[in-house]
Amino acid sequence: MGRITFLYFVGILALSSIFGVDAESPYRYYDWEVTYGTISPLGVPQRGILINGQFPGPTIECDTNDNVIISIRNSLDEPFLMTWNGVWQRKVSWQDGVLGTNCPIPPHSNWTYTMQAKDQIGTYMYFPSTELHRLAGGFGAFIINKRSVIALPYTESAAAFTLLVGDWYKTDHKELQKKLDNGESMPMPDGLLINGDPSNTVFSGEAGKTYLFRVANVGTMTSINIRIQGHMMKLVEIEGSHVLQEIYESLDVHPGQSLAFLVTLHGSAKDYYIVASTRFDRTSIDATAILHYNGSDIGPSHPLPVGPTYQVHWSMKQARTFRWNLTANAARPNPQGSYRYGGIQVTKTIVLENSVGEVNGKLRYGVNNVSYVNPDTPLKLADYYGIPGVFDLNTSRDQPTPGPMISGTTVYGTELHDFAEIIFQNNETDTQSWHLDGHNFFVVAFGAGTWSPDVRRKYNMVDAVWRSTVQVYRNSWTAILVSLDNKGMWNLRSAIWHRQYLGQEVYIRVWNDEKSLFTESDIPPNALKCGKAANL
Ligand SMILES: *[C@@H]1O[C@H](CO)[C@@H](O)[C@H](O)[C@H]1NC(C)=O
Ligand SMILES: *[C@@H]1O[C@H](CO)[C@@H](O)[C@H](O)[C@H]1NC(C)=O
Ligand SMILES: *[C@@H]1O[C@H](CO)[C@@H](O)[C@H](O)[C@H]1NC(C)=O
Ligand SMILES: *[C@@H]1O[C@H](CO)[C@@H](O)[C@H](O)[C@H]1NC(C)=O
Ligand SMILES: *[C@@H]1O[C@H](CO)[C@@H](O)[C@H](O)[C@H]1NC(C)=O
Ligand SMILES: *[C@@H]1O[C@H](CO)[C@@H](O)[C@H](O)[C@H]1NC(C)=O
Repeated sequence: MGRITFLYFVGILALSSIFGVDAESPYRYYDWEVTYGTISPLGVPQRGILINGQFPGPTIECDTNDNVIISIRNSLDEPFLMTWNGVWQRKVSWQDGVLGTNCPIPPHSNWTYTMQAKDQIGTYMYFPSTELHRLAGGFGAFIINKRSVIALPYTESAAAFTLLVGDWYKTDHKELQKKLDNGESMPMPDGLLINGDPSNTVFSGEAGKTYLFRVANVGTMTSINIRIQGHMMKLVEIEGSHVLQEIYESLDVHPGQSLAFLVTLHGSAKDYYIVASTRFDRTSIDATAILHYNGSDIGPSHPLPVGPTYQVHWSMKQARTFRWNLTANAARPNPQGSYRYGGIQVTKTIVLENSVGEVNGKLRYGVNNVSYVNPDTPLKLADYYGIPGVFDLNTSRDQPTPGPMISGTTVYGTELHDFAEIIFQNNETDTQSWHLDGHNFFVVAFGAGTWSPDVRRKYNMVDAVWRSTVQVYRNSWTAILVSLDNKGMWNLRSAIWHRQYLGQEVYIRVWNDEKSLFTESDIPPNALKCGKAANL
């Protein structure tokens, strides 16, 4: 960038970053009404959450840096929030749509999210963050395409298909919520859906052409494996990172994760099964869709392609093959690898162990034996107005802590630009999945057993994949490195939704004392006020 262009660029930033939009970039408007409606994805009519009458919800599709304005009318009988999983909300945790940053939208009223798809490209998703709403629907894909001046590190595909894959319950979400509130454990899901249907979705293409498949695991509990009969998958993108383009027969996608791969239609003209199946159990549940070659009238044939079931090692081994392509660009024109994270000094280490226990005789999940409780006042508002007694940075535990489970509002205090190492330790027998808002992180290692400092020499300090959601296998650990460069209040949560609902989440406050619109946008003029901030 020449000097004049650079100054111009800074000028635009100064003028336009007050509320988190960029006046020079295009605006896209979405007008959504969230309602209850009857759906029957598994053949049984049940109460679903619809967006403009649709289940799953409409796809948001924009280009990098576009301003995305989403007006939501909450026509449910309960407060509601939508969150944008993997979409960073750079400088505006005000728009993140979780209870630590936003007051929920009251029933029968509107709220407008104002965000910018700043410096991102890739496959993401949105879903309701309140109660167990997402178990009834309300989710959809959030796709950020490249700007025209950016080259992709792969040949452009003829078309892109989006597959929202996830587990599903036939039981009403409020009934499931009542069970959890009473201290009962979560039942297993009843089935698996692809775009809201267990077996009927069709994707059509032309023989010889190559298509981009975007896959998001919108489910709440179950890791899935995805594969296509007679076709190989070339992985190209994981949550906004361009990866080494390896060829896979099948791919594991854990709750809250998304990725994209290319498939060339090189088979004979007929229909093929696309299979998603549940992982880490001896018996798996399948959902199927159809890959249809245009012009053919030959239906798909059994047997379905076989995938891994209970094997954990298989999954860990595959996860280690996901690597950043250092010479490829992502949303920006410069190569990803020009950011050499391996040379950056770690300024903070936090070890987080998922814990399960009881508080007041009821089942709760936690982190280091603290089960998170949402205060009435969002942390972000408490911080902004200096309201005392909502959270206390001193009470957070940054190491596993024996002793009974307690309730608390864990917020880790960090400095803007801290470079943190976070270890997820999983001593339980289920696979976990963790998501950080506002940032991507480098997944530098997976290992079995208990993490210890001497395994640091085994970290991938060169080309680890940079993403926002990571799995932690049973009786294992996962290590990540993250540059905390997005000022604000950010949710770090279990993507296993009943665990999040029962307290398995924390917040990270990324802070410096300098008040500047260059590092954080001002409170939006339409910010809802509640709790101790209600009258401010
Ligand atoms: C609220 O949402 C409804 C439905 O999307 C829309 O028609 C209406 O204009 C919105 N009202 C305001 C004040 O934004
Ligand atoms: C990495 O990216 C470069 C630059 O776009 C591309 O030419 C190359 O094929 C990619 N390498 C792999 C292994 O995907
Ligand atoms: C395949 O056929 C369908 C229906 O005839 C059509 O809508 C679609 O555009 C075709 N796709 C391609 C890639 O030709
Ligand atoms: C938190 O810790 C800091 C530094 O140790 C101390 O100055 C401060 O008073 C503590 N705050 C509370 C509420 O205990
Ligand atoms: C579980 O985690 C603790 C750290 O909290 C560790 O000391 C212990 O060895 C772990 N147990 C197992 C069985 O891995
Ligand atoms: C939580 O407390 C229980 C005892 O109540 C203990 O067995 C467990 O190891 C603790 N978890 C962590 C992460 O320290």
